[in-house]
This record gives sequence, structure tokens and C-alpha cells, in this order.
Amino acid sequence: MKDAKSAKHAARATAAVLAPALADLIDLSLACKQAHWNLEGPFFSPLHALFDAMTDEYRAWYDEVAERLLALGVPADGRSSTVAAKSRVEEMPSGRLPGPKAVEAMTERVESLAKRLRGDLDRLGDLDPVSQDMVIGILAGVEKQAWMLRVQNA
Ligand SMILES: [Fe+2]
Repeated sequence: MKDAKSAKHAARATAAVLAPALADLIDLSLACKQAHWNLEGPFFSPLHALFDAMTDEYRAWYDEVAERLLALGVPADGRSSTVAAKSRVEEMPSGRLPGPKAVEAMTERVESLAKRLRGDLDRLGDLDPVSQDMVIGILAGVEKQAWMLRVQNA
């Protein structure tokens, strides 16, 4: 009985770490589409494609996080109002985005996410190594995105 109680507690505490990450990943998929659409300038074509490929990654990652929450017995909340309230992703600039500005905006947001996910690892390791392992996998992809963006403006 005590084990069941502590497992429930760990699942809830894990969900408290994963829920804001879910909101961030959903919000970043929207930020990335914003960059994909409003981009302009000489490197339009490769950047337009890069932002779409990144969006696909966010969609796959947030699906993974949402379904991990359910596997832990906690409902996933991907409603737009929840995302708007919980996301820690800074709002994208409005209007057209020249390539370097779009890359800079996405670099900042992707690097911030990487920092937050890295900051969650120890706590997740204590609570639920399976969720930690999932976030490590996502973090590897997020850090790869950050590198690919950084070198665009190098
Ligand atoms: Fe498109």
C-alpha cells in the first residue's frame, strides 16, 4: 500500500515536471511555423525547410511527452489556453522575419528550452528514470537544433 502511494506521488511529481515541458514543446512548434511562414531574404528556401523539419520534431516530441503523462496515469493538457498559460517560450516577434532575425529568435528559444530540459534531468532521475531517459533523448535533438541554428548566423 505504501509502495502504491509513493508510486502515485512520484507519478504526480514527474507530471509536474513534464507538463510545462509539454507546453513549451507545443508552443515552440507554433513559434517554428511562425518563422517558417514569415521568413524572407536570400536564404529563404533552406531556412523555410529547416523550420518545417524542426516543427515536425516538436510535434513528435510533444506527442511522446503527452503519452508518457498518460502512461503515468496523468491526463495531458494541450489546450491552447493551458499552453498560453504554462509555456515558458517567449512570444515570437510579429510580422515578417528576415532570415538572420528568424534564426536569432529561434536560437534563443531553442537554447532556453535546452537549458530548462537539462535542468529537469536530476529531478526526473530521482522520480522516474524512464521519463528522464525520454527527456534525454529529446534534449539531444533540441541541442542538435540549437547547434544547427547557431551556425546559420556564425
Ligand atoms: Fe509550409
